[in-house]
Amino acid sequence: MSLHCTWSDMLAEASARLAKAGVEDARRDARLLLADTLGVETGELILREMDMIDGAHLAGFEDRIRRRLAGEPVSRIRGWREFYGRRFIVTGDVLDPRPETELLVEQGLRRLPPGGRVLDLGTGSGCILVSLLAERADASGEGVDASDAALQVAARNAAALGVAERARLVKGDWTSGDMGAWDLVLSNPPYVSEAEFPDLAREVREHDPRIALVGGVDGLEPYRTISAAARRALKPGGWLGVEFGAGQAEAVTGLMTGAGFAGIEVYRDLAGIERAAFGQAPGPA
Ligand SMILES: C[S@@+](CC[C@H](N)C(=O)[O-])C[C@H]1O[C@@H](n2cnc3c(N)ncnc32)[C@H](O)[C@@H]1O
Repeated sequence: MSLHCTWSDMLAEASARLAKAGVEDARRDARLLLADTLGVETGELILREMDMIDGAHLAGFEDRIRRRLAGEPVSRIRGWREFYGRRFIVTGDVLDPRPETELLVEQGLRRLPPGGRVLDLGTGSGCILVSLLAERADASGEGVDASDAALQVAARNAAALGVAERARLVKGDWTSGDMGAWDLVLSNPPYVSEAEFPDLAREVREHDPRIALVGGVDGLEPYRTISAAARRALKPGGWLGVEFGAGQAEAVTGLMTGAGFAGIEVYRDLAGIERAAFGQAPGPA
């Protein structure tokens, strides 16, 4: 294309290239990447679409489109993703937060008492913990992760979203977290089985860290440990909320029941897939 083109022409061209390469929502991705290149919100693009392109921005846009063509997700190219209405820093060290994980935040908020304390196991970018604390100024919590690099990203997000003083970030495993100290334990652990891993979409397999994806041989290993550990970590009457993969609801709720949780409720994501469950520890609420 020559420099006599408009951004609208470039958008059309880039969308066609992405679509040809099999990118599902090619037009949307091209728009997000153009907005990122121009440093504007996507809603403002309409004001810029008829502008003539300029060399400096064109190079930046082309670089972003090439990365997308090579399978890199938009959030990693931009370095951020919106989650529960806030902007989270996303790097190659953390799982790219998924919209369905907002269920844990939404249902966790309903169950968090005034001045409540929340433990987020496998915090990654910190999206669950930081969202809860940003929504509730009276709450405090701890995010645990086995990955130092992920914890650094979580710390940046906690600072950027103004909750760092109420968010302790700790290197550890599913059994970390003081005993009997928490009103709410939340976790979106890795839940893909070893056998399923090679069949994941390239975008996921190559760009999300493996430690954030694979949950042992059958994908349920983390839930076995988390259900038992959360029973010890929760105050009497506290709640455990977990996310899981498609088809895992029965197995995961069975593990929660086996660990002594009651009143189990399962929630579906926007695609209608059973995606999260909450259960209550025995004792006074
Ligand atoms: C599916 S990601 C979830 C990240 C984030 N909570 C979210 O919902 O986007 C799972 C996280 O668990 C962490 N993890 C994996 N194994 C762990 C373990 N044994 N103990 C603690 N964290 C672990 C990974 O590093 C990763 O950040």
